[in-house]
Amino acid sequence: MKQIYRNVKKCRICSAKNMVKYLDLGKMPLTNLLVEPKNKNKPELKFPLDILYCKNCSLSQLSIVVNPEILFSKYVYRSSIPKTFQDHCAQIADKASEIVNPGRNKLVIDIASNDGCLLYQFKNKGFEVIGVEPAENIAKIANANGLKTICSFWDIETSNKILQRYGKARIITATNVLAHVDDLNTFLKAVGILLDEDGIFIVEVPYLYDILSKSEFDTVYHEHLSYFLVSPLKKLYDNNKLKIFRIEKYPIHGGSIRIYSSKKFFEEDDSVKEFLKFELDKKLYEIKTYKSFEIKVKKVKNELIKLLIELKRKNKKIAAYGASAKGNTLLNYCCIDSKLVDFIADDTPEKQGKLAPGSKIRIVDSSYLNKEKPDYILLLAWNFSEEIMRKTNDIYRRKVKYIIPIPSVKIVQI
Ligand code: TMP
Ligand code: ZN
Repeated sequence: MKQIYRNVKKCRICSAKNMVKYLDLGKMPLTNLLVEPKNKNKPELKFPLDILYCKNCSLSQLSIVVNPEILFSKYVYRSSIPKTFQDHCAQIADKASEIVNPGRNKLVIDIASNDGCLLYQFKNKGFEVIGVEPAENIAKIANANGLKTICSFWDIETSNKILQRYGKARIITATNVLAHVDDLNTFLKAVGILLDEDGIFIVEVPYLYDILSKSEFDTVYHEHLSYFLVSPLKKLYDNNKLKIFRIEKYPIHGGSIRIYSSKKFFEEDDSVKEFLKFELDKKLYEIKTYKSFEIKVKKVKNELIKLLIELKRKNKKIAAYGASAKGNTLLNYCCIDSKLVDFIADDTPEKQGKLAPGSKIRIVDSSYLNKEKPDYILLLAWNFSEEIMRKTNDIYRRKVKYIIPIPSVKIVQI
């Protein structure tokens, strides 16, 4: 892809052209393209951010695809920062090794392995691990930590290269990456090349039902091209000769599904049919279900702005925690800038010292909480609320109140 972005004209799973827009968040900057302070006054590139629903297969998808080279070649996201996610990865490794009962073949491939958070857990269990990660700066960190990582996007060529050098993989994992992929069929074909006949392919994605029912509109950003239900996923897997045999639900990232598949080796359990029935019962295959989403999203926006303005009027100091991708969608959609929020604390070294895109709020390390003593902390990474509240409560010895924006704006104190 040479151009900066392209418009989506047909569904990425079923190729149908009858797609309907149901959420329009306006034009937004790219959420992980943080701004250097010296460029504060330079205009940023902004792109439309809205979701289309495919009337044929029910896949929700962005109306544009931004060139992945721009989005992912240098990256600021580190998956191992939240302890909650580390624990979640340990659970993935436990479950996976229960299912495959590792004997002879112990090769695990993690696609979009980031800094090796999941690879680390598999390695601890005695597996041989290889990661594939396109961001050069992040792949370097994993390699420096002894977690072998190939710096590349996941494609047929990379899959073949691994196959020739290391043989077939017993477990292939892809957590929080399928939503980022434009050509899903090639992605799965590349998995098929490398997966052993008795191997498993594990995918985790945010579940669209949770996004809709809990007003998690901030999960929408240019990196997330698709918003998944089980039904379109099943179609995609069937087309690529992978059989989904189990689906589980987890609270991570606001509600995610974990999809286990194989090359016909494992028997399908009841969970697959149960999910399909659930989606049918919840009317997720009908466009009218989606129409109310934007109304709920606007309500969050109005309540949050009203609260922040009211607090400012009372001379309260407000900071935020977690310069997450979703946080930037939320700030920009709600028109929140440094007049309302003084700074964003984040433990990711790659983010500190930069400005959040659009809002231009400065990102700092968490010691600023003690230095600047805010009265309120807006939890932008609300998906890790418990962990952040525990952590900040320990380091910050003032009575602070937390604002949790999603699913609806509330103030909590611990
Ligand atoms: P995510 O929701 O996309 O995973 O992003 C979470 C963000 O919050 C990420 O920028 C890291 C940050 N974070 C911290 O800085 N400290 C923490 O303790 C946690 C849980 C998250
Ligand atoms: Zn479709």
